[in-house]
Amino acid sequence: MDEETEVRLLQAARAAMALSYAPYSHYPVGAALLLEDGRIVSGANIENAAYPVSLCAERTAVAAALSCGRRDFMAIAVASRGDPPAPPCGACRQVLSEFNPSLRVLVAGESGPAVHHNLADLLPWSFGPRHLGRDRAPSGSA
Ligand code: THU
Repeated sequence: MDEETEVRLLQAARAAMALSYAPYSHYPVGAALLLEDGRIVSGANIENAAYPVSLCAERTAVAAALSCGRRDFMAIAVASRGDPPAPPCGACRQVLSEFNPSLRVLVAGESGPAVHHNLADLLPWSFGPRHLGRDRAPSGSA
C-alpha cells in the first residue's frame, strides 16, 4: 500500500470513529476497509441497551461493504482513542478472515502512525471455508 492510500485509509477510519454510537462504553471505534480498486468502505461501532447485541466497527464496515456487493478486501484500518489503540477483537478477526485470511490490518490512535499487522498472524490456525470443503465465494456470487 502506498503512503497516500494509507493516509486516506486512516483518515476514513478516524472519520468513521466520529460517527460511532457508543453511549454505554464511551469508546468510539472506526474501521475502514480498502477495496481492490482503491475505494474505501467504513463503519463504526453501534452499541445497544441490550449490551451483547452491540456491533464492532470492523463488522459494521464488513456489512456495509457486502451490502454494496463488495468483498474484495485488501486492508482494514481500525481507529480508536486511548493508548494502546484497539486491535480487532477475536470475533472480528474471524469475520475478516472469511474474506481475506491475510488481510493487512492497520491499528491506529486518534493521531500518529498506525501499527501494521497481517491478519494471519493475528488469527493463526483459523477455521475457514476450506474446512467445509469450500473456496471463498468469488466477488458477487451468492
Ligand atoms: N469494539 C470495536 O468496535 N472493535 C473492536 O475490535 C473492539 C471493540 C467496540 C465494541 C464496543 O462498542 C466498544 O468497542 C467497547 O468494547
